[in-house]
Amino acid sequence: MPRILVTGGAGFIPSAIAIRLSQLPGTEVLAVDNLSTGDLRKLELAQHPGIRFIKCDVNRFEDISSVFYSYRPDHVFHYAAVVGVKRTTDHPVNVLHDIDGIRNVLDLCKNTGVERVFFSSSSEVYGEPVEFPQNEHTTPLNSKLPYAIVKNLGEAFLRSYHREFGLNYTVFRFFNTYGPKQSKDFVVSKFIRAALKGEDITIFGDGRQTRTFCFIDDNAEATVNAFRNKEVINDVANIGNDIETSILELAKLVIELTGSRSKVVHLPPLEEGDMTRRMPDIQRMRGLLGRDLLPLREGLTRILADPSFILD
Ligand SMILES: NC(=O)c1ccc[n+]([C@@H]2O[C@H](COP(=O)([O-])OP(=O)(O)OC[C@H]3O[C@@H](n4cnc5c(N)ncnc54)[C@H](O)[C@@H]3O)[C@@H](O)[C@H]2O)c1
Repeated sequence: MPRILVTGGAGFIPSAIAIRLSQLPGTEVLAVDNLSTGDLRKLELAQHPGIRFIKCDVNRFEDISSVFYSYRPDHVFHYAAVVGVKRTTDHPVNVLHDIDGIRNVLDLCKNTGVERVFFSSSSEVYGEPVEFPQNEHTTPLNSKLPYAIVKNLGEAFLRSYHREFGLNYTVFRFFNTYGPKQSKDFVVSKFIRAALKGEDITIFGDGRQTRTFCFIDDNAEATVNAFRNKEVINDVANIGNDIETSILELAKLVIELTGSRSKVVHLPPLEEGDMTRRMPDIQRMRGLLGRDLLPLREGLTRILADPSFILD
């Protein structure tokens, strides 16, 4: 029976992965999280008896090592990280501590014979874009901010541990992902929350900066398929949507779907961390998913069917 460890398991994307993995026949899932931004309710443990949870800090070797040696996972999804543009630019030193977590996890994977480690990298590794769409192998990595550098370094660690110790890996470069259980400080949740409360929707700059928005189910299904079907081994896959939407268009769509009276208010542009544009080449992801991605309007409608996490 495959035993799978998911780090950051009480987080938005990792909880979705943990739930999906626990529903595969014969799997056991252990989720660990220090609950810094995570919320145990996201794992819905009562409905998913195949998941166990341990509160644990992956950046502290003594904490995560005892989990590895007692649980002996066959596969590891290392998704724990300090996230969020504001949090990571305000606390860059905390972000750099995540290098310890990456090294801890990889050393423990190597020493306990883990079959494959899956790493949540980010579109941020591409930095300010130099080509579109951003391709896993041809687009240069221009990472400058600590969060992006740590992700880039994480990828380098994985390649190096594979080369030197034969540890198999998969890198997922996540582009903006959204869904009902996302933290309140991310753009989609923030806009929906403001619209439902009739508060102003604030945008940094003119709102013409574009993003692509990937619904959580598309992310989770594609990545779990990479695990199940033994794909993207020792390689990288962009995981995201490739339809560009400006932040202003997003705000207008949220206002339309909620029927809100909220107004859009523009603030000065952020000094750093707000890229003008991002757009992934998702040919690989489409192969993993094997179906169309969910349009933004439908994803937003699904969130609005039960916005309890966002309103909490
Ligand atoms: N959501 C996105 O659009 C997006 C985009 C690119 C990359 N990612 C990556 O995906 C992963 C999941 O992000 P998310 O959006 O679900 O964020 P999230 O904050 O909901 O999940 C991260 C989880 O990690 C936990 N955590 C943080 N530091 C930890 C530590 N030292 N030990 C144990 N647990 C720790 C947090 O408590 C949280 O539950 C992260 O690695 C993030 O960098 C997300």
